[in-house]
Amino acid sequence: MNISKNMEIFEQGNKYLMSTYSRLPVVFVKAKMQYLWDAEGSKYLDFIAGYGCLNVGHSNKFVVNALKQQIGKIIQPSNIYFNQSQVKLAKKLCEITEFGEKVFFANSGTESIEGAIKLARKYSADKYNSFRYEIISFEKSFHGRTLGALAATAQPEKQKLFEPLLAGFKYAVLNDISSVSKLINENTCAILLEPVQGEGGVYPADKKFMEWLRNICNEKNILLILDEIQTGFGRTGKMFAYKNYNIYPDILVVAKSLGGGMPIGAIISTEKISDSFGPGTHGSTFGGNAAACVAGLAVIDYLIENNLPGKSMKLGQYFLKKLMQIKKKYAVVKEIRGAGLMIGMEFNKPVAEKLVKGALYDKIVINKVSSSTLRFLPPLIITKKNIDRLVKWLDVNIKEI
Ligand SMILES: Cc1ncc(COP(=O)(O)O)c(C=O)c1O
Repeated sequence: MNISKNMEIFEQGNKYLMSTYSRLPVVFVKAKMQYLWDAEGSKYLDFIAGYGCLNVGHSNKFVVNALKQQIGKIIQPSNIYFNQSQVKLAKKLCEITEFGEKVFFANSGTESIEGAIKLARKYSADKYNSFRYEIISFEKSFHGRTLGALAATAQPEKQKLFEPLLAGFKYAVLNDISSVSKLINENTCAILLEPVQGEGGVYPADKKFMEWLRNICNEKNILLILDEIQTGFGRTGKMFAYKNYNIYPDILVVAKSLGGGMPIGAIISTEKISDSFGPGTHGSTFGGNAAACVAGLAVIDYLIENNLPGKSMKLGQYFLKKLMQIKKKYAVVKEIRGAGLMIGMEFNKPVAEKLVKGALYDKIVINKVSSSTLRFLPPLIITKKNIDRLVKWLDVNIKEI
């Protein structure tokens, strides 16, 4: 029997790796900017970018060169010393966020959320009292898979398998002011949300809602924590999605695209709040690793020099317009929503898996967030021509479902 190279690796993967993902039978062995190549040399156009980790594209030359130089010098000096790239990246993050004064580095999104929960609780206990630890998060949110982040992730089907979860979370409805009002009490220490909910189905927060959240947080001394793990670094048309709302968070959590493919996450906050994290309160062995941080610096420079946030805004508008034309043609398309190059396409029927598999067969990588919703998160360096190719594919294939 002639087993293809893709299938050979796929079968070995199924044998030796835990089945926490429903993996598709393709193995990518090479990638460059918006393209991927499988083990048999076929080329694919990427509209998922490693789950939103590659805003600057796969193996971006700028990032690769910075990494090559760094790993030859020092990779992991350990956190009882500062390392140069960690300090430079922290400074850069404070500058580009325009509100940040201190940074804590972690290795992933979920780890950064855990740290943000701890920071908010510690600050609240230091400033008020130790009963003031409740955090309000939102239905359909996604903040990660570790137990604290999972407690914040108000998706019962993901939570119920791992109860009891971390106590102290209450869940409101995105864009519903009264649902938040009802939950606020003297023990509320923070409100945590994604400006555009990603994994939950691509639902943007309304401008009025976000402004109301900022105001109520100011009024009641509650911390506003924004999870920009997916929306950060140009994805929604601005460097950070909160800039679309003209507000600042008290704590910002980022990860994914900051590393250009390297594992990194960060918590960014003001000096006043960050002061609650003194020596011994929090830590991470690999957090702020010199290699990951040098990649982060290269990513930010590349984003700024190439105005990728601006491109994301313009290309996002173009993409949205094209998808709206498809929606007009086919009743099966229920809704198109998103911001910049973070777009969800919801159908009236559970057709998402069929479309994902069909696109893969035709060498386009797309992703679903539910049985009826596709999510597009291309690298921000894609072109109009790339978008046209996907839209044409959708036009032909939606007609046939
Ligand atoms: C908004 C948001 N928060 C948190 C996470 C968790 O990040 P990680 O998978 O790096 O732990 C994700 C991952 O998809 C995310 O999209």
